[in-house]
Parts: sequence; C-alpha cells; structure tokens
Amino acid sequence: MIKATTVEQVKKYVRECKKKGKSIGLVPTMGFLHEGHASLMKRARKENDIVIVSDFVNPTQFGPNEDLEAYPRDFDADCKLCESIGVDLIFHPTPEEMYGEKNFSKVHVDKLTEGLCGAVRPVHFDGVCTVVTKLFNISRADRAYFGQKDAQQLAVVSRMVKDLNYNIEIIGCPIIREEDGLAKSSRNTYLDEEQRKAAVILHKALSMAEQKALDGETDAALLCKEIAEVIEQEPLAKIDYVEAVDWDELSHTDVIDGKTLFAIAVYIGKVRLIDNFIIG
Ligand code: PAF
Repeated sequence: MIKATTVEQVKKYVRECKKKGKSIGLVPTMGFLHEGHASLMKRARKENDIVIVSDFVNPTQFGPNEDLEAYPRDFDADCKLCESIGVDLIFHPTPEEMYGEKNFSKVHVDKLTEGLCGAVRPVHFDGVCTVVTKLFNISRADRAYFGQKDAQQLAVVSRMVKDLNYNIEIIGCPIIREEDGLAKSSRNTYLDEEQRKAAVILHKALSMAEQKALDGETDAALLCKEIAEVIEQEPLAKIDYVEAVDWDELSHTDVIDGKTLFAIAVYIGKVRLIDNFIIG
C-alpha cells in the first residue's frame, strides 16, 4: 500500500492508473478508522480496480468551539486496517499541504445545509463540501463511498455532485452498529462506561419508530414526539434535535410521503451523537 502525503504524489499515481484504464473508488475519512469505515472500504474494494482512502482531519469543517485538537487520531492503526482490506493508496496530507498558505475558494450548498446539524454547525458543510471537492479532483475517482450514519452529509454531497455535474458516483452505505445497536463512530471513544450504556437509547428510540413506520404509521410528527419521549427516559441524554425531513431537500415534514429521513442528535454528557433511519 502506498502512503502518500502530497497532492502531487496522488495525482501522479492516479495518472498512471487512468492511463491503464483502471477504475478508482475513493473513501474519504478523517482517520481513526473503525468497522463503519471498513465496510465502505470493502465495498469500494469490490467495485473498483483501485481503492484510495483519504485520512485527513479537515480543519475547515470544525467550528471555533469544536474539538479539532481533541479529535482522535491513530495513523498506524489506520494503515494496518487499510492494508488488511487491500487498499492501494492512503492519502494522509497535512493541513498546509491540503490548503496551501492562502485559500480563497470554497464550495457551498444552500438549503440542505441549513437545518439538522447545519443549524448548530454553521461552517461545517462548507468545510465538508470544499474538502470533498478537492479530494474528488485529486483522486479523479469514479465512485466515492459515504456512510448513511452522516445522513445529512450524504444528502448534501449527493446534491452538490448532481447540481454541479461532478463526474463521480456517490454511493451511500448502511450504518454499521455495535452489538447493542449504537452506531459506530469515532466519537464513541469519548464516552465513559456509564455514558456508553446510556447511548444505546438513540438506537432504541429510532428502532421503535422505524418499526411503527414499517407497520404503516405515516404521521412523522407523532413518531418524532414518541422518539423524543423514549430518549427523555434516559437521564444522561439531552436532545439537540429529533426531526423528520424529506430526503431530496431535507425540508421539515409532518407526514411520511416519499423517502423520509428521521434524524436525531443527542448529547450524552458532553458528547454529541447522531443517528437516523430512512423510510419510504
Ligand atoms: O465524514 C467524514 O469523516 C468527513 O466529513 C469527510 C467526508 C471525510 C470530509 O472531511
């Protein structure tokens, strides 16, 4: 596996691959890889000749009060996991390499970035769209793999690719969960033992609602209320939002009418966890 730290190294490798007519799958990550990432890499491995993983904690998607410095990192473990899956190249640039000394450009998607996590993380999605655009351009990937765990990110990136005619296919992949149902996330490592047990309430609340929706309940507002009631039973949990939105525009909806995303963000202590399900 090639460990590349510069944009030029990746571009050179990609030029050679393209000359040979090889297809490229990209898995963009911020490192500290877990089974959720592994599932994306395995899917990319199956569907492409070449798999590139980016491992970059992107500073532009963190707000001034967010945990950029504290964000967990373990590049050696990341490399081992990537190697075990047969990744061809891991791209691990510094912020200076990625953004240079000066940078005046960014990519912004309207509307879909305003609600849900965007409401409390105003710079987040500009940072994501900008870095993802750079990674798409550097890797010239045919396909890029994103987890449904970050459903708003998946919707925003898909919209950006559609609106701006990027030559890349966005593949959304299912949420990978711990045995008790907690969605895998790098942030889970911040939870202490008691908080970790409490965190299972997110999945409990969502699976109750998902089952009711599968059984035919179409009142999204009622389901959101019931999700909130289940979460409120857990003393360590504090709800940031419980929302139902239509998948295409992420606009608030009170009824399930077409593809609908139920998304939640919940603080367990100081740790903000997100989870969701999509129905219809
Ligand atoms: O989902 C993530 O880990 C990040 O937001 C991404 C897509 C790698 C961009 O930095």
